Amino acid sequence: MSPMSSAHHNNTDYNDLPNPFITLAGEHILSASDWLEKRRPELLELFRKHIYGRAPLDKPGSLRFSIQKEMRGALGGIADIQQINILFDGRGERGCIQLLLVTPRAALHPIPCFLLINNRGKESIEPGDIRSTPFLPLERILARGYAAAAFDVADVDPDEHDGFHNGVHGIFDPPDLPRPPDAWGTIAAWAWGASRVMDYLETDPRLAHDCIAVLGHSRGGKTALWCGAQDERFALAISNESGCTGAALARGATGETIRQINEAFPHWFCSAYRRYNDRPDLLPVDQHLLLALMAPRRVYVASAQADAWADPKNEFLACVYASPVYRLFGLQGLESYEMPAVHQPLHAGYIGYHLRAGEHDLTVYDWERFMDYTDRHWNV
Ligand code: GCU
Repeated sequence: MSPMSSAHHNNTDYNDLPNPFITLAGEHILSASDWLEKRRPELLELFRKHIYGRAPLDKPGSLRFSIQKEMRGALGGIADIQQINILFDGRGERGCIQLLLVTPRAALHPIPCFLLINNRGKESIEPGDIRSTPFLPLERILARGYAAAAFDVADVDPDEHDGFHNGVHGIFDPPDLPRPPDAWGTIAAWAWGASRVMDYLETDPRLAHDCIAVLGHSRGGKTALWCGAQDERFALAISNESGCTGAALARGATGETIRQINEAFPHWFCSAYRRYNDRPDLLPVDQHLLLALMAPRRVYVASAQADAWADPKNEFLACVYASPVYRLFGLQGLESYEMPAVHQPLHAGYIGYHLRAGEHDLTVYDWERFMDYTDRHWNV
C-alpha cells in the first residue's frame, strides 16, 4: 500500500505493512460499513491473539461504585473533587480501582473530560494532597473548562512480573496453569481498568459522555490506544510518546524493538507476542491498524524530538498509514503526510499529531495541545 508519496521513509520497510483493506481471507474492504462489520472485529481479534492478549471478561456483574470522599471548592476554590471506589469481585477476591474525579466549579454542563491512565505513582492522585503537576496540570485543565479523571495502574495490576498472581489477573484468571499464549498481559489489564472507569463516568450526569478522552503517557499511552481501540465509548484516544507496541510501527523500528520490550517487560503483552521478537514482518498487523481502530472516532499521537526510544518517525508514519481508513469514512485522517517541525501541531484532521521539543515526558505543552485539539473539534 502507498497512501502517500511525500513522507520520507524507506520503501523496503514500509511497503510490507499489512493492508487495512484486505481481510485475512483476501476479501477487499470497499466501504465503511464493511470495515466496521468485517475488518474491525478481525483486527481486534488479531491484536488480542498476537499482541495484547484476551481479557477474560468485559464488565463484571459485580461492578459497583461508592463515593469515598468529596471535597468542594478545592484547589483554591476552583474545583470539586471526588474519590470513587470502583469495586468488583472474582474467585472470592475483591478488586478496587480508586478513581480521582476533578471537575471545574465554574463549568457549564455537560463537561468534557480527560481520563488519565496514571503511571506516576498512586500518591500523585490522592485527593487529600492533590495539586497541579506537569503530568496532570489540573489548574490548566479546569481553567479551560474540562474535567480530569485519573486512576493509578497499580490498582488494576501492579507493574511487575510476578507470574500473573496479583492484580486483576489473580482475581479473574482461571487458576489452572499454563496460561494460554493469548492470555491477557498487564497493558490489556490496564485497558480493561480504564473501561471500568468509563462505566462509572457514564453514570455522572455532569459529564459530556460523548466527549471523554482516554489519555496516557508511554506505557500508559500504549494502554490508552488499546483501550480506545476496543471501547467505542471513548471519543478520543491520546497517546503521548507510547512508542513500541503503542503508536510506533514495529516494521522498520528505529527505537525500541519487540524483542527488547518483551525481554524487559515480560508481563506487558501475551506470550504469543514473543514469536515476533525478531520477525515483526510476520505480524498480521502493525500499529497503524491499532490507530485505525479508532475510526471514525478521533485519535491523537504526540511525540518528543529527543525521545528516540519511542521512535517519533514511526509514530508519525503509523498516523500516515492509518489515514486511508479515515478516508473510507469520508473523513480526513492526518492533515499532512509530511512530518511537521517541532511545535507545529497538525490539528485539522481526525488524527491529531504534534512533535514537542525535548525529552520523554508528559508536559504542560502536551496537555495544552490536546486541549487545543478538543476545543477545536468538540462541540462543548
Ligand atoms: C520503558 C519501555 C517503554 C515504555 C517506557 C515508559 O522505556 O521500554 O516501552 O514506553 O518505559 O513507560 O516510560
